[in-house]
Amino acid sequence: MLRHKNVRLLLVVAVLQLSFLFGKCDLPCNARDLGIPGRSTVCVCNATYCDTVTRNAPEPGTYVTYTTTRVTKNLNEASYRLFPSIQFQTIEGFGGSVTDAAGVNWRKLSFNTQNHFIDSYFGPKGLEYNLIRVPIGGADFSTHPYTYNEYPWNDAALSNFSLTIEDYFYKLPLIKRALAVATSEIKITASTWSPPVWMKTNGAITGFAQLKPEYYQSFADYHIRFIEEYEKANVKIWALTTTNEPVNGIVPFVDFNSLGWWPWDLGHWVANNLGPTVRNSRYNKTLIFAVDDQRYLIDVYLQGMIRAAPKSFEYIDGIAIHYYGNFIPASILTSIQERYPGKILLSTEACEGPMPWDVMRVKIGSWERAERYTRHILDDLNNFVVGWIDWNLCLDDEGGPNWAHNYVDAPILVYGDKDEFIKQPMFYAMGHFSKFMPRGSKRIRVLRRSLRHVDNLAVLTPEGNIVVLLHNRHDREMNVRLSVTLTDHINLTVEPESITTVEINPQSLNLNTQ
Ligand SMILES: *[C@@H]1O[C@H](CO)[C@@H](O)[C@H](O)[C@H]1NC(C)=O
Ligand SMILES: *[C@@H]1O[C@H](CO)[C@@H](O)[C@H](O)[C@H]1NC(C)=O
Ligand SMILES: *[C@@H]1O[C@H](CO)[C@@H](O)[C@H](O)[C@H]1NC(C)=O
Ligand SMILES: *[C@@H]1O[C@H](CO)[C@@H](O)[C@H](O)[C@H]1NC(C)=O
Repeated sequence: MLRHKNVRLLLVVAVLQLSFLFGKCDLPCNARDLGIPGRSTVCVCNATYCDTVTRNAPEPGTYVTYTTTRVTKNLNEASYRLFPSIQFQTIEGFGGSVTDAAGVNWRKLSFNTQNHFIDSYFGPKGLEYNLIRVPIGGADFSTHPYTYNEYPWNDAALSNFSLTIEDYFYKLPLIKRALAVATSEIKITASTWSPPVWMKTNGAITGFAQLKPEYYQSFADYHIRFIEEYEKANVKIWALTTTNEPVNGIVPFVDFNSLGWWPWDLGHWVANNLGPTVRNSRYNKTLIFAVDDQRYLIDVYLQGMIRAAPKSFEYIDGIAIHYYGNFIPASILTSIQERYPGKILLSTEACEGPMPWDVMRVKIGSWERAERYTRHILDDLNNFVVGWIDWNLCLDDEGGPNWAHNYVDAPILVYGDKDEFIKQPMFYAMGHFSKFMPRGSKRIRVLRRSLRHVDNLAVLTPEGNIVVLLHNRHDREMNVRLSVTLTDHINLTVEPESITTVEINPQSLNLNTQ
């Protein structure tokens, strides 16, 4: 019989009634009510204080729960059977992106506050992120547009390739401080937004442009040169994507760093240049993720690449997916996984507030944005995605800096003048996944046995615990019954508009009965 032995409620963000319940060894949220109707409180960190989250391993036959909630009451029931022996994809991890903008904001803080920031995301008392994405050169989240080896022009041999102040002062220091506190290997994915403009048909950083064929090999070498330079700084690159959002250099309405790829050209470049160059280099183990764009573009790109250059398919290890096309159902990802088995699906970019119809770029204390993150991560992982990388780790309260004025929201906002940063509900939403679903966890089967439903995801961790995430989007309380074996179950009450992570140690339960 499963006991409800150790209940710890933390990661709590509440509106109106503040009810913070934390474990004894954790520092609670220093809550700030923003005084804006409908918004959640946020948690404030500074040089001397920052809230923590510790994962307490459940004893055999017990479980531990962690909740982040908004508010209210009423009763409904949902029931599920968990099947730890029916397993799907293996989780690679969760993380965020070290953009120039993130580095610029982080550098505004004092050393102690910087450490609180690093610990909050990467440390053992933080979210334990284990994935990072880093732009190769500049992106829109830079203070100015730039690339490596801008001069001299037409320097096909990349004789003047060098990192910039952004790498040495912002990105590398942040990454190295993260690596120093991380609880597992941090795997870093790198993507180019725009190559040096002399490689492009329009000679400009943005706008309709493709790679000039005479620079196909130079652009492949450009990636290897980047990996080499980062290696010199003791930062290992785990994966490359085949260019950030290749459609942006084809459609007319994108006004930031881009390079357009038609699917057939991308196929030729991967098959003849990038693929062989990476595999014949010292970095032959570097993974290559294709597409790196919205989910509705994956089929178009993959089919076009394979038709034009079948060998391109052999060189790619997986497919990188962005968040902004999520009005197409996530089931398309399961269909892609079925058609391209053996290719890894990785979510490489997501943020709230980027759309033309988003009236507010930054919406401080927005619970809805945390809710959307949770819903989409659940959707992705329930459709074979193995990892999820958020966009900027932090921004200022305008959602920048961004040289192209493409401001968006981020889980942490930095106030350099006050030497503090705030953790928004999105931060805690990420933590429900990253903290409790370590690398190597396998998604398991969840069978619904009731009319009522709460969104969920279940994994089996490498140490053999079952972690279930329950996302109650209803404005009523729900009773959730989780059957772990034929005879053992847990009854949980999940609060309205809440995210609950349950970690069950099934040892000493008779799991053989299933
Ligand atoms: C940091 O925040 C804590 C908790 O609100 C407060 O007691 C402390 O004075 C703050 N420290 C600084 C340096 O502002
Ligand atoms: C090499 O690049 C630097 C900037 O990194 C630039 O100042 C210099 O002029 C370039 N050298 C040549 C020969 O173009
Ligand atoms: C891959 O690169 C390593 C050096 O990093 C080398 O020792 C190894 O032989 C290479 N493997 C292949 C298959 O080329
Ligand atoms: C769980 O709730 C059901 C009713 O919904 C009840 O029959 C069962 O005994 C409860 N189990 C435990 C362990 O409390």
